[in-house]
Amino acid sequence: MDETLIALRRDYTAATLDITDVLPDPIAQFGLWIKQAMASQVLDVEAMTLATASAEGTPSARIVLLRGYDQRGFTFYTNYESQKGSDLAANAACAVVFHWREIERQVRIQGVAQKVTAEESEAYFATRPRGSQLGAWVSRQSAVLKNREELEKEWNKLESKYGGTAIERPPFWGGYRVVPNCIEFWQGRRSRLHDRLQYSLTDAGWKLDRLAP
Ligand SMILES: Cc1cc2nc3c(=O)[nH]c(=O)nc-3n(C[C@H](O)[C@H](O)[C@H](O)COP(=O)(O)O)c2cc1C
Repeated sequence: MDETLIALRRDYTAATLDITDVLPDPIAQFGLWIKQAMASQVLDVEAMTLATASAEGTPSARIVLLRGYDQRGFTFYTNYESQKGSDLAANAACAVVFHWREIERQVRIQGVAQKVTAEESEAYFATRPRGSQLGAWVSRQSAVLKNREELEKEWNKLESKYGGTAIERPPFWGGYRVVPNCIEFWQGRRSRLHDRLQYSLTDAGWKLDRLAP
């Protein structure tokens, strides 16, 4: 069969991005952009693609949800024994990408993942709906299942076991913080002449460059 070709579908014209438009601190700049994305009703603002690589260098990527950010980095929650968990145990270097299509923006982050403290994971776990708390116990994330029934049977078993009582955090479930060393802000422009501003961490602090599109 011949390859199905996808034609260029649109030009980007919503906004521009210059060195003089951005803050010296990329985390503060990220804060501005994510707030603008929320104000612009961007869907799934907090959804980010997380790329990891195994010890052998095999890459893999999936979407996770950003649950917090500050000067230390960008936090998400997951199963520590999942594919991404075993990748990060062997190779903590990772990358994150946000695509906010409604405002023609992309943010790329490179960094190193560190587990958040048990206290932080517990505090966040406690805020999750009960069904998700049970789900965290039930799902051996990334393991092969025989069928869906296996999963649902286990969920029902745990639901009756816990009754109305508090559900503790599974030791294999918690947060990672991606500690950034490079953050790029991308604004789509006409004729593919996009604006790209990249902050890289140096001994002297964050260095800001414009990159070719
Ligand atoms: C919108 C969206 C949000 C998701 N959020 C999370 C999340 O916060 N944590 C998580 O572990 N998986 C999340 N997932 C599922 C992951 O994409 C992935 O299927 C799962 O974590 C297993 O990945 P792994 O086998 O590479 O470890 C999300 C998926 C989608 C589509």
